[in-house]
Amino acid sequence: MTGHAQAAQYHDGRKGHGPTMPGQFMLPQPNAYRSIFRHADGSYDWVSELCYGWQLIDQASCGSLAACIVECIQGDGGVHVLPEGYLKALKRHCELRNMLMIVDEAQTGLGRTGKLFAIDFEDTVPDILTLSKPLANGLPLSAVVTSATIDARCEELGFLFFTTHTNDPLVAAVGEKTLEIVLRDNLIGNASERGDQLLRGLRSLQKRYACIGDVRGRGLMAGIEIVDDPGSKAANPELAHRLSESMWQHGIWCQLQSRTVFRIGPPLNSTPEQIAEGLDILKDVFRSTSPRLNTEAE
Ligand SMILES: Cc1ncc(COP(=O)(O)O)c(C=O)c1O
Repeated sequence: MTGHAQAAQYHDGRKGHGPTMPGQFMLPQPNAYRSIFRHADGSYDWVSELCYGWQLIDQASCGSLAACIVECIQGDGGVHVLPEGYLKALKRHCELRNMLMIVDEAQTGLGRTGKLFAIDFEDTVPDILTLSKPLANGLPLSAVVTSATIDARCEELGFLFFTTHTNDPLVAAVGEKTLEIVLRDNLIGNASERGDQLLRGLRSLQKRYACIGDVRGRGLMAGIEIVDDPGSKAANPELAHRLSESMWQHGIWCQLQSRTVFRIGPPLNSTPEQIAEGLDILKDVFRSTSPRLNTEAE
């Protein structure tokens, strides 16, 4: 929500604001479903896309780039899972430019994706890792995790950061307990298993309903992209909105991101029955709100 943070992300809600902060550049969104970078067989060519993005940044910057910030799965950006190898390649691009790589795990951290951190799916160590939302299970606790070297450099440069809640012992205690429970109750393994169940269920809905253009995600972080039909991939925000209203009426809260993508993030301790119940509700909603079947799949 701050000027610098907004300038570091693609954002739906910039209308009505002034210009964003100077000195920030964007890589193309790693959107496997819609990217125009394709191999001859139609698969997503993220390597060319990433190199092209850096080429543009190198041409536009004055050569003193500081850091690159990235989510392992873009959350509000539409639940885009980074392709395997992407973060490793990104780290290499950063190292070549003497930049730090910051991985933001506010949404993916603490087990949601089926590993403690989503970065654990890649053989890569970020220079800085940021955590928040699940860290104290809803209380306002966040963390910036880094090396002693970077920490010492911040100290040396006199960087200052504090808020009302800095060093708040109450939320810190809740954070400690949350970590204990996540590990003690194997919520990470549960997220992985229930996530498989969820994604399987969503893919089977996709086969049936033509308006589900794409299903993606990892663990208990899933996205469904609503389109006019899977062939044209034309967006249908009105239908997405109607579906969203209907889901809410049926008792399930699926948040719309980028107007056409449902981001689904059930609790990490969800039971098989709860996931099945959620999928049943989604099925009812798709049946009643979008009766057009996916004839190609049948
Ligand atoms: C990926 C990501 N990073 C950071 C934040 C900000 O988190 P907080 O409000 O806990 O600082 C959000 C919040 O929506 C987020 O989704």
